[in-house]
Amino acid sequence: MVHFPNGFLWGAATAAHQVEGNNINSDLWVLEHIEPTLFVEPSLDACDHLRLYPEDIKLLAQLGFNTYRFSIEWARVEPERGHFSTAAMEHYRRVLVACHENGITPMVTLYHFSSPRWFAAMGGWERPESLELFVRYAARVARHLGDLVQFATTFNEPNLPMQLRWLPITEVPIVKVKRMAKVAARAIGADKFGCFFLGNGDVLRDRMIAAHHRALEAMKSGPGNYQVGVSVSLQDEQPAGADSRRNQKCAEVYDPWLYAADKSDFLGVQAYTRCRVGKRSDLSPEPGAEITQMGYEFWPEALEACIRYANERVKVPIYITENGVATDDDERRVEYVRRALGGVLNCITDGIDVRGYIHWSLLDNFEWIMGYRPRFGLVAVDRATQTRSVKPSAHYLGEIARHNRMLPNPPA
Ligand code: NOJ
Repeated sequence: MVHFPNGFLWGAATAAHQVEGNNINSDLWVLEHIEPTLFVEPSLDACDHLRLYPEDIKLLAQLGFNTYRFSIEWARVEPERGHFSTAAMEHYRRVLVACHENGITPMVTLYHFSSPRWFAAMGGWERPESLELFVRYAARVARHLGDLVQFATTFNEPNLPMQLRWLPITEVPIVKVKRMAKVAARAIGADKFGCFFLGNGDVLRDRMIAAHHRALEAMKSGPGNYQVGVSVSLQDEQPAGADSRRNQKCAEVYDPWLYAADKSDFLGVQAYTRCRVGKRSDLSPEPGAEITQMGYEFWPEALEACIRYANERVKVPIYITENGVATDDDERRVEYVRRALGGVLNCITDGIDVRGYIHWSLLDNFEWIMGYRPRFGLVAVDRATQTRSVKPSAHYLGEIARHNRMLPNPPA
């Protein structure tokens, strides 16, 4: 089979903090500018997408895509607790209008890792009132923008703190993390710096699942009539050895969120690589494996494995909301996409209800603590001039999108 189902969504994704630039009221901006910090560089202007979104959306459409996944920045919409910025919400209205004018279906994420500074200062997700605060923000956004939205997710990868727990102990600079959090708290005059990445996984899971369901309710009450889901971070978890705790890891890291997604309109699957799970933690990739700029194994087959894992647990439709590879060798990106999409087609052939593929990312952008070094973009960005350069992989995936089928020959 080479055809994708009619109405399949084809898109590329970004996230506000990673592309907009100057997200100065966010908790991450604080972390990027203190000393010591784990961030290799600050985000600064990013891709200046706050200003250049009309061109970026137009480019996406010209390439052949029909969907744009982007996030709304809470730190802009609610710059001070309880004070909402109409101007910020109007900005996102203009982004949504630009999507519609270009024939693009928008998929909006309400929370993609970054929070307002005041939210971190009050302790973040570990504080019980965080739930009501998020629901209030979601309701405001829904009221202001809902009529223009077709798909929305509450959270992007809310299971990440649980996933990070499994990292090999040698890869977690615990002392540095603690020092950074302490300095950040002092910088904003708080006792604790309540940032999503630094939060307690168990507490965050329970609170954010509850917040997801409540926010979903608020969004479904209108205006507009759109699908609401959640995007979960998945890996192709493979047992390494007879005493591997692979199943325990999956039960802890994935299943609670998959069951939450199952009570929503759809599940967003985000998958990049496979992981070998040992007795105590994840193991590094085997010697000789091809490694990407993220330190991940080049493993496009992860997508099929993750869709199948999710499908055993959810009955709702699945959209791939992220999949991609960080590399400077764009031919490897083409190869990655080709093999990942082959896996998607295998799933569809087996009757799994996959309805879209959204690539990470539209642009080379700010990859959190790793700064601008990993390059996931279909489109390169010269950050001195903000010039966009389309990579061959963008044309390859764009043509697949345009024809809604696999193409036999990727460009040389
Ligand atoms: C997951 C995150 O949602 C996104 O922000 C990140 O840049 C990509 N994966 C790549 O690591």
